[in-house]
Amino acid sequence: MNWHPIGDISDIPLRGSRCVKTPHMNISVFRTGEDEVYAIENRCPHKGGPLSEGIVHGNAVTCPLHNWVISLETGKALGADDGAVRTIPLRKEAGTLYIALESLMMAAE
Ligand code: FES
Repeated sequence: MNWHPIGDISDIPLRGSRCVKTPHMNISVFRTGEDEVYAIENRCPHKGGPLSEGIVHGNAVTCPLHNWVISLETGKALGADDGAVRTIPLRKEAGTLYIALESLMMAAE
């Protein structure tokens, strides 16, 4: 895989997120209260809301527009809602975060 650095984990507060723009899609990088990090497409499966502006709780984010809850692990909507966003492989090494660019290109096809 071709890993691309996107910044330092300390750039993202606990239970916070950051939007990373790529030529293929915008992605949200989340840091949970347990210090886990996840990257998913920054586009709610309901009506495209910016998930990076949502509330992080546990390993999920609540969309700021209509409160769908999206799993950061699977990208799937939880509860009664149906839909999913793409998850992006993310690696943390010595505090630096990397995303896998190939998966973004495949996602854009
Ligand atoms: S756009 Fe996210 S819940 Fe509607």
